[in-house]
Amino acid sequence: MCGIFAYLNYLTPKSRHEVLELLLNGLKRLEYRGYDSTGVAIDSPQTSDIVMVKRCGKVKVLEDAINEHFSGKEYDEPVLTHVGIAHTRWATHGVPCETNSHPQRSDDENSFVVVHNGIVTNYKDVKTFLEKRGYVFESDTDTEVIAKLVHHLWKKHPGYSFRELVEQVIQQLEGAFAIAIKSKHFPGECVASRRGSPLLVGIKTKTRLSTDHIPILYGKDEKSPQTCEKDTEAAKAKVLPRTESTSEFMPLEEKEVEYFFASDASAVIEHTNRVIYLEDDDVAAVRDGTLSIHRLKKCLDDPHAREITTLKMEIQQIMKGNYDYFMLKEIFEQPESVVNTMRGRVRFDSKSVVLGGIKEFIPEIKRCRRLMLIGCGTSYHSAVATRQLLEELTELPVMVELASDFLDRNTPIFRDDVCFFISQSGETADSLMALRYCKQRGALIVGITNTVGSSICRESHCGVHINAGPEIGVASTKAYTSQFISLVMFALVMSEDRLSLQQRRLEIIQALYELPERIRQVLKLDSQVQELAKDLFQHKSLLIMGRGYNFATCLEGALKVKELTYMHSEGIMAGELKHGPLALIDDRMPVMMIVLRDPVYIKCINALQQVTSRKGCPIIICEEGDEETKSYSSRSLEIPRTVDCLQGILTVIPMQLLSYHIAVLRGCDVDCPRNLAKSVTVE
Ligand code: M6R
Repeated sequence: MCGIFAYLNYLTPKSRHEVLELLLNGLKRLEYRGYDSTGVAIDSPQTSDIVMVKRCGKVKVLEDAINEHFSGKEYDEPVLTHVGIAHTRWATHGVPCETNSHPQRSDDENSFVVVHNGIVTNYKDVKTFLEKRGYVFESDTDTEVIAKLVHHLWKKHPGYSFRELVEQVIQQLEGAFAIAIKSKHFPGECVASRRGSPLLVGIKTKTRLSTDHIPILYGKDEKSPQTCEKDTEAAKAKVLPRTESTSEFMPLEEKEVEYFFASDASAVIEHTNRVIYLEDDDVAAVRDGTLSIHRLKKCLDDPHAREITTLKMEIQQIMKGNYDYFMLKEIFEQPESVVNTMRGRVRFDSKSVVLGGIKEFIPEIKRCRRLMLIGCGTSYHSAVATRQLLEELTELPVMVELASDFLDRNTPIFRDDVCFFISQSGETADSLMALRYCKQRGALIVGITNTVGSSICRESHCGVHINAGPEIGVASTKAYTSQFISLVMFALVMSEDRLSLQQRRLEIIQALYELPERIRQVLKLDSQVQELAKDLFQHKSLLIMGRGYNFATCLEGALKVKELTYMHSEGIMAGELKHGPLALIDDRMPVMMIVLRDPVYIKCINALQQVTSRKGCPIIICEEGDEETKSYSSRSLEIPRTVDCLQGILTVIPMQLLSYHIAVLRGCDVDCPRNLAKSVTVE
């Protein structure tokens, strides 16, 4: 979804060209999130005005426009202190066009300009209020009300600081947002805030940072400012009493400092690894080079400070290296990413598994009524893939739920339920809403995420970081196999003291040990898969069939094909064939079938025969050397043997490669498929 990147240099001379380059690079790092238009705002060199450039389309288009627009020598002159804001927009309100792109502005003079992620749900009320006061709106966005409301309050309360104005504004907003605001009336200052959408502040100083936390400054009068208040009459835009800091701490003051406000860490890591993840309703303000974090209301268990986190991410992890696409790089990283997921957790010498993040909660989990695995898209498929093993090794009922459907149904949740939220980004709105729903009902919340500091991560009681490393391609690949392994490790932990399951556990641990090498073997099929892609890429549809441990691969494979190639594709439970899908089979319908030597082998062969006897010509994924199964078709892919419950990791890789190659052959944008976003932060 949308990406925010803002940059502030204080006593650190930078020319406007350098600032623009920084902003563009920041946007490039956020491209993977998915977007359709872009924009930047910086100070004009000639006047005190703010200049904006916005474009529909890719960051490259914006870059060309910037080169044309800001060509004068004055843009090379260093400026001691400056604020620039930039944005990639994924349209929600209003079509992608220049006017709807961000920054959105308060007035013709660009007094206040804002970049925003999320949706302001009460924007119509606020808009009506502002229109009655003479404001004329130029865009169809919800965002424009933010810029105009700050302006309105600034006119009404000229003595207010920039931060105070923004505090007043966010109290009138409903919905989800992350914002960064710049104003010509407050040069050198930047104010940012979030509620429901991620935002972090990166800090770069020449010397070691003088502190490892930033104190939170709370409003003095705790009764009057009501951040939680549902002001349905937002249109009144009532102004609450001003706040004063009461903290005995000092905010972060550094002499020469640069600040970065960004939607995620990948945009700042090349500049600094020191970041603060903002929490909902935090207002972060930089003035005279000093960063302070404010909240209007202190609740009982609120902390005194926000910690400065050191990112472990490496810059190479967010670069493509020698690969043409991030997705391809991430597929080929899987032999290493699965090792990183298991590192320090699976002890191959003692055949034991320890998950530090949930260790203390295991007794409670063992007493639970049921396990619920909740996620969206690929993350949901990892739950489908491991459900059978979890049922076997935990001996508990396991429910697998799509977060959106789970919420639609108002699913009953009890205090003795354990709810797992699986999410690569940790920011998926549906999953986060479902998490809050379960938490309110007293369930134990376990987060399975790839993003340290993400909302799901922070709001869970305990969890497992899958440690797959940054996943930039919109199509999830290595995160899937790492989520899969995390859930397998959990099943192993739960069965540690079950004597009857020891043999099974040993078999799985041994297979985990061999897994990286098995994955390497599967990746060697790449050129064979590419040939198959040549046969398939002009077709309209692809059916993928399997059952048991491999049904999840069918769903995940079909999702990959759909999102990357825009072809129709369907994952079909082979047992359901004769209940409908068999009608689709003829000699022209492309079909893939997964037929491995596991407990459902005979049933899979049955399905295979049903397909071939209707003149279907399936491509078969089978086990290495399985001549009998191969004899059913002229096209097959042989994968190495592993334990049944891990087969899904090996069978999904040819599907990842196939969707990738078809996408390339069809000329699709592999890393940023149309209409999609990496992290879906709106419901
Ligand atoms: O970040 P999450 O894992 O919560 O995202 C959930 C889905 O949006 C995501 O898995 C999506 O289905 C993938 N892009 C598919 O490749």
